[in-house]
Amino acid sequence: MSWRYLAVATEAVLRAGRLQRERYASGVAVEYKGEIDLVTEVDRACELAILETIRGRYPDHDVVSEETDFGRTGSPSVWFIDPLDGTVNFAHSYPFFCASVALAVDGEIVAGAVYDPVRDELFTAERGFGSHVNGRPLRVSTAGALIESLLITGFPYDLHQRLEERLRFFNRVMGLARAVRRDGSAALDLCYVAAGRADGFWEEILKPWDMHAGRLILSEAGGRATRLDGTPLGLGPDGIVATNGLIHEALVAVVREELKPALV
Ligand code: IPD
Ligand code: CA
Ligand code: CA
Repeated sequence: MSWRYLAVATEAVLRAGRLQRERYASGVAVEYKGEIDLVTEVDRACELAILETIRGRYPDHDVVSEETDFGRTGSPSVWFIDPLDGTVNFAHSYPFFCASVALAVDGEIVAGAVYDPVRDELFTAERGFGSHVNGRPLRVSTAGALIESLLITGFPYDLHQRLEERLRFFNRVMGLARAVRRDGSAALDLCYVAAGRADGFWEEILKPWDMHAGRLILSEAGGRATRLDGTPLGLGPDGIVATNGLIHEALVAVVREELKPALV
C-alpha cells in the first residue's frame, strides 16, 4: 500500500517543484513571519498544489503543513508538508531549496519524497523498500570518524535572540570535523547524508515538516536519525542528529557534553 502513498507524495513534490523552478530567478513578494523568517507567495502556491494532490486522493487523512493550520481529526494517517524548504535561499535566488512531503501511519513514517527542482533530483523512500534518487538506490557514506567527516547544520529562526547558545555546539564541532556546511534546507541536508554526499547533519530544533521525509530517506539508505541525546525521535518538533550511523555515537557524545543543560 505504501507504494501508492509514495506515488502521491512524489506527484505532490513534483508539482510544487515545478512552481519553484518557474519562479525562483524572477523575484517574489516576501512577507515576514519574524525578523529573518520569511514566507513568499510561492510557499503558499506550493502548499495549495500539494494539498490539492493529497486531498484529491485521501480526503480523510490529516495534514500538518507549515503555512496553514488545518486542525486534526484524529486520523491515523498524517501527511507532513513543507511546501518550500529553504525559503530564505529561494527569496535570494540561491539555488538550494525543495518541496518535502511525508506520510505517517499509526505513528510511523511510511513514505517520503523530497524534490530539488534546480538539480531535478527526486529523493524518495518507502518504509522497508530502500530509498532512491531519480530511481537509483541511495547509500550512506563510510566515514568512520568526525575528522574524516563533512557535516551539515542549520539554525532556527530564533538565532539572533540566542546567538551564543546556538553557536556553542557549532563552534565545538567546527574544531572536530573536516568541514561543516550550512546550506539552508534541512530536508535536502538529510537527503545529502542519505546520498553519502555528507556524513552527518544536526540541528537543535526542527519542525516535523522539515525532517520527516528526509529522516525516512536517510534511514532507508542505511543511516541513523535520533534526538540530540541519541534517544528515538517521535513525530513532534525536536532536535536531530542524523548520520551515516558510523559517526553517530561520536556526534551525540559531543552534543551530550556541550548541550547538557538544555537536554535535562
Ligand atoms: C528552514 C530550513 C533551514 C533550517 C530552518 C528551517 P524553511 O525551513 O530547513 O535549513 O535551518 O530551521 O526552518 O523555513 O526554509 O521552510
Ligand atoms: Ca522547512
Ligand atoms: Ca518552508
